[in-house]
Amino acid sequence: MSKRLGFTAVSATLALTLAACGGEGAGGSGGAGGGAEAEELTIGVSMPTQTSERWIADGENVQEQLEAEGYTVDLQYAGDDIPTQSQQIDQMITEGADILIIAAIDGTALAGQLENAAANDIPVIAYDRLIRDSENVDFYVTFDNFEVGVAQANALLTGLGLQTADGQPGTATGPFNIELFAGSLDDNNAFFFFDGAMSVLQPLIDDGTLVVKSGQTSIEQAAILRWQQETAQRRMEDLLTSAYNDGSRVDGVLSPYDGISRGIITALQNAGYGSAANAIPVVTGQDAEIASVKLIADGVQSSTIFKDTRLLAEQAVVAATAFAEGEEPEANDTETYDNGVKVVPSYLLPVETVFADDIQSVLIDSEYWTAEEVEAGQAD
Ligand code: BGC
Repeated sequence: MSKRLGFTAVSATLALTLAACGGEGAGGSGGAGGGAEAEELTIGVSMPTQTSERWIADGENVQEQLEAEGYTVDLQYAGDDIPTQSQQIDQMITEGADILIIAAIDGTALAGQLENAAANDIPVIAYDRLIRDSENVDFYVTFDNFEVGVAQANALLTGLGLQTADGQPGTATGPFNIELFAGSLDDNNAFFFFDGAMSVLQPLIDDGTLVVKSGQTSIEQAAILRWQQETAQRRMEDLLTSAYNDGSRVDGVLSPYDGISRGIITALQNAGYGSAANAIPVVTGQDAEIASVKLIADGVQSSTIFKDTRLLAEQAVVAATAFAEGEEPEANDTETYDNGVKVVPSYLLPVETVFADDIQSVLIDSEYWTAEEVEAGQAD
């Protein structure tokens, strides 16, 4: 008995010594300047909402991949409520998180939490959405967000027949009536998506090929708070009533996100679009949500932009591991993402446009969705 106790005591001392050698700083951080074993570290993962599939998948992917590396994970969803997210992050810090991975609801609302993290030596990785107005964002993993907007605009032009899928001139000449939707103004990505899209669309609006009949061309007019489907449906209904009650039709809608696209499509269908005589307008999207992939397969939604969240999770894990080892993660962009205080070193992943013909090769072959899920329009 006494032997066993002795053995335990030695192991405990050894473990403590090893931890000390690992360079754990005050506040239990194994982060910047640290160099701790994964097994000793807890990573707080703060996700915005479970109302959109992609964030559920993001949370699960990050958790699984971190746990596979041996980290302990504290994963929280904030129900798209800003005070809840702030409180969850504060709590992660209090409970000893060593590294934080955060997808913000409102990118400007977390400066206080990040100050607290910095005071405790906790590296912060902004996940997909940039955290603004804080110098305490250490790294940013995301997709090429400007390119998402460019791809959405090109998909709109392809859907309208103004160009082919590989960017060659199409058979249609226009003019076409289009309407523009944007994301939530508190999400930095919304600006990148809209700016990217307008870099393609503006010249065609200027030369009359595209007509925004409502006249609502600013991001403030086009924005949908919290990216909500119902809000998008209401705005589309309002646009149809105010700008298309003279017998004219809307030919295309720039939509930044599949949930918004479904709201737009519902409004269009309720107004009589979607028959042989009154074709559904070309509607774009983003995220390859399963309900929208089905709509694309069925010829209702025109396109989406696929962002492989498994790869994003992987990058977050790579970045967290670098911090855990006391190193800086490797960036592939050190110029684009100025958060108002500093340019945050970033790792950007590429994106892919998906039309009906691409569902098999891009989404099913990569095992993002199964053929059965696409058929059913819902995840297993
Ligand atoms: C993400 C998009 C997503 C949107 C709504 C953005 O920050 O980058 O992928 O569609 O939020 O959840």
